Amino acid sequence: MRTIIEPFRIKSVEPLRRTTPEQRENILAGAGYNLFQVRSSDILIDLLTDSGTSAMSTEQWAAMMRGDESYAGSESFYRFEQAVRELTGFRHVIPTHQGRAAEHILFSIMCKPGQSVPNNTHFDTTRANIESNGARALDLPFPGTSDTQARLPFKGNLDVEALEKLMEAEGPSKIPLVMITVTNNSGGGQPVSMANIEAVRKVTTRYGVPLYLDACRFAENAWFIKRDEPGYADLTPREIAQKMFSLADGCTFSAKKDAFANIGGFLCTNNSKLAEQETNLLILTEGFPTYGGLAGRDLEAIAVGLEEVLQPEYLEYRIASTAYLGRHIADHGVPIVEPPGGHAIYIDAGRMLPHIPRAQFPGQALAVELYRHAGVRSVEIGSVMFGAEARHELLRLAIPRRVYTQSHVDYLVEAILEVNQRKDKIRGFEIVSQPQFLRHFTARFQPV
Ligand code: F0G
Repeated sequence: MRTIIEPFRIKSVEPLRRTTPEQRENILAGAGYNLFQVRSSDILIDLLTDSGTSAMSTEQWAAMMRGDESYAGSESFYRFEQAVRELTGFRHVIPTHQGRAAEHILFSIMCKPGQSVPNNTHFDTTRANIESNGARALDLPFPGTSDTQARLPFKGNLDVEALEKLMEAEGPSKIPLVMITVTNNSGGGQPVSMANIEAVRKVTTRYGVPLYLDACRFAENAWFIKRDEPGYADLTPREIAQKMFSLADGCTFSAKKDAFANIGGFLCTNNSKLAEQETNLLILTEGFPTYGGLAGRDLEAIAVGLEEVLQPEYLEYRIASTAYLGRHIADHGVPIVEPPGGHAIYIDAGRMLPHIPRAQFPGQALAVELYRHAGVRSVEIGSVMFGAEARHELLRLAIPRRVYTQSHVDYLVEAILEVNQRKDKIRGFEIVSQPQFLRHFTARFQPV
């Protein structure tokens, strides 16, 4: 049969609260037209992020009851460590309370002022953690990403030629590590090919520089490789993921994405000297090495999640359901970042609303309109978030894992197409007040 269904049934449900258009108008005004300031109970469908928002399985909840909350030497840690080692092959596994804590430890140990860390595209927390250590976070995306409409596979790739040039110009002493983010979140949720990871590996080996994966969405990336890269169709997602990790010297990981956990993360390395330094810093900032800022039950949930996320039926459904949303809006005239990514659909709001100049934040205007019309929360990824450095004016619709059903997705399609029909009437916004850093969380807006 051709129909792809959700590969689970529902045991525990959370009610959704509907609001009226008048209520939403008041909520928007009260929140300064910033959806980060809206209470979740006032949202019908929440696509703010896929991070920490997954539905856990019965096996995960059952495992949580086995959580060993011993301060030192917890059994839950050893189960977690085994699951991570079996998947990644890395010698040292350091638990952290989420991805950015792993980044903080890694970059504090590895980066010095004046150095540069290249990546296909840094996520904002990796960038901030590199910069706060005085180093430079450098994005080297594959040149094909500049056209959001180009339907190329593996648009998440790193520009290997640019990396070679950088290595030649700066030398390995200026580059403490190279990172690849799989999938490339800030670049549209696009995957990275195995051939690209191999090509980057060749360069880093030649210069003796370690290669790290920012592996939050490793399983979704593995599925794209299986589906679209020649030579991988017959491998299991686990085999593909293991090969991806085998090409790297270490990784950072947020378990809030592809481990279906509501909190957690880890840092891995094969380098024993580094691991010792990292563990010392971990004790200072996160906790003892066998819990690292997590409860034993969290470690259990992650161990089970890492198994479940690689099930082919799950990944097939996950990628198909994201693509369904993308195709149904794009084929009816809404410009998305093509092709659909793994965890999210990105609408090119700059292209959809050409009458709204960048200075009036087309992505923000679209986010507000989608909430006003249908109670849907999404997030602007453009000039509000990145200021003058924004490459595109995007609206991200991130899909929580195993949370929404096909009829929710159909509702989203209908809502977005209705907004698109009267897009000419959407107006821009101006900022009324903003903080000094990370303004997208708390800035207040008003319509122009
Ligand atoms: N790296 C990538 C690629 C991410 O997408 C995120 C988080 C992190 C690192 C940091 O992990 O949140 O556990 O500290 N991304 C979320 C998002 C917040 O909405 O895309 P964390």
